[in-house]
Order: sequence, then structure tokens, then C-alpha cells
Amino acid sequence: MKVAVLGAAGGIGQALSLLLKTQLPAGSELSLYDVAPVVPGVAVDLSHIPTDVKVAGFGRDDLSGALTGADIVLIPAGMPRKPGMDRADLFNVNAGIIKVLAEGIVASCPKALVGVITNPVNGTVPIVAEVFKKAGTYDAARVFGVTTLDVIRSEAFVAELKGLDVATVKVPVIGGHSGTTILPLLSQVEGVTFSDDEVATLTPRIQNAGTEVVEAKAGGGSATLSMGAAAARFCMSLVKGLQGEDVVDYAYVEGKGEDALFFAQPVRLGVNGVSEILPYGELSAFELQAKEDMLATLKKDINEGVDFMAS
Ligand code: LMR
Repeated sequence: MKVAVLGAAGGIGQALSLLLKTQLPAGSELSLYDVAPVVPGVAVDLSHIPTDVKVAGFGRDDLSGALTGADIVLIPAGMPRKPGMDRADLFNVNAGIIKVLAEGIVASCPKALVGVITNPVNGTVPIVAEVFKKAGTYDAARVFGVTTLDVIRSEAFVAELKGLDVATVKVPVIGGHSGTTILPLLSQVEGVTFSDDEVATLTPRIQNAGTEVVEAKAGGGSATLSMGAAAARFCMSLVKGLQGEDVVDYAYVEGKGEDALFFAQPVRLGVNGVSEILPYGELSAFELQAKEDMLATLKKDINEGVDFMAS
């Protein structure tokens, strides 16, 4: 298993790479790419951890070296937001970065599974899809927006609110990865019921959790450690699927287009990425309304990515 992390020297990239160094199956390769000159040092640092995962660092001019032979590519590269910004405000700066990296993937490992973390995920995932389409190598089953952070935050907040063992809590989260497009399905959490007041308070807390971190870091960036943990967890789902295990996880993918072209939903993972788009089940009246209300924003975010490539 070869996993490439693009943007590996940043806050998310380093946390993610550390977790992958300790969690990937024995015999795996971890390939770290970054334009920051510190990346060879990050690779050397990680290589001193005694696990059977080989680490190599690749600088600005060696994207192809990092990507050749990769089974999975994870992309946390790009600028984080500052207090007062929405994720959408990052589009202009991060769209170009994602495009260049996606072109590198098309050139060096077009069959890899690609997990996009770079914000705004709602718009950067369509850019990756369009780059692949332009090259004639697009396979919707292989391109993912990583929305696992919304899932793990929901698990943490629900367990905290209800006094539950967090290891047993599962919360489906659908939609996108920004503000009201993040829709936790609290009505589907097994063994727990929420009052209307709890739903009305907990839903926006989950939707605004990224902003909570951005404000707490006060200009020092956005979530890096929890995002690293979330992306590592999602990567391990991809790895298990590639190894032939039956895995279901949530991700922002091009599905059947019933809600929007890209939508975070449950997917079955296999040796070729998504093997099945699964239904997200019945929604409460509150969730149904929230889903309808988010669609205009989500579609606008998606179109921004598509239009960027068209222009
Ligand atoms: C998050 O959810 O924490 C990330 O998408 C980063 C951000 O800007 O909120």
C-alpha cells in the first residue's frame, strides 16, 4: 500500500502523516510531498518511529516522485482560514493549488483513490473531478471529499451531551463540508433520542465546529489535529476497502445526483473505491427541511469548482 500526502509539512499534513506512520499496514510506503523546504526533515523525523512503514520526503519539484505508484493520495495542501472567513473565502487561493496537484495525480497515478481535505471541500472536489474529466480518466468511484471530521465531531459532541461511551456512538452526517451544508442526522443515532431543543442546539454546534476552532486559534489557522485524526480514519477505511474488506463510511462523492452532483453520504468501499452508493435513510422533518435549505448553497459551491475549470 502506498499512500501519498500532498501538503505533508503543514499542520494537518504532519498530524496525518504521524498517524499513518503508526496505522498503515506493515510493508506500506508513506510518501510526503510539500513545497515547504522542511518536508525532507519531516520524513526523516517520522522515519525514526519503529513501524514497518517506509517514509520518503519529496520537495516542490518532485511531485511525480511522490505520486508514482500511489494507491491512495490525500490532499491537505492549501491555506487555512482566519477568524471572520468562511471556507468559501479560500476558494480563490486554494483552487489553483488543487488543480496543479490533481494534474500531477492524473499524470502519475490516475488510478489512485484521492481524498480531498483542502477547503472549500464543496468546491475543490469538483475541481479534481474536472481535471480528471479533461484528461479522459475520470472515475467518480475514486474521488472523495473527506468529511470524516464532521462525523467524529458529531460523535464527540453527542457522547458528551448524553454521557455515552464515545466508542459506541455513530452519527451519520450528510450534505457537504461547510456551514449549513453539514447535516448531522441526529434522528438516526441508535439508542438515543434528542429533544427538539437539543437538536436545535447541537446541529449548529456541529455545523460551526470548524469556526469554533478557527476562533480559538485566533489567527493561527484552523483544525489540524482533529482533521489529521479524521483523515487518517478515512484513509484506513480506504485501505480496508482496497484490501477487500467490506467497509461502509461517509464521504462527499459524486453520487446519483438526487440532491446535488456531489453529496456526502454513506458509501460502500471496495478494491476500486466506491462500490455502492447507499441510501441515507429516512430524515426527520427538521432534517428534511435543513437538507432542502442547504441545497442552493451546496450547488453554488459545486458550480464554482466546475466553472473554475471551464474558465
Ligand atoms: C474544519 O472543519 O475544521 C476544517 O474544514 C477547517 C475549517 O476551516 O473549518
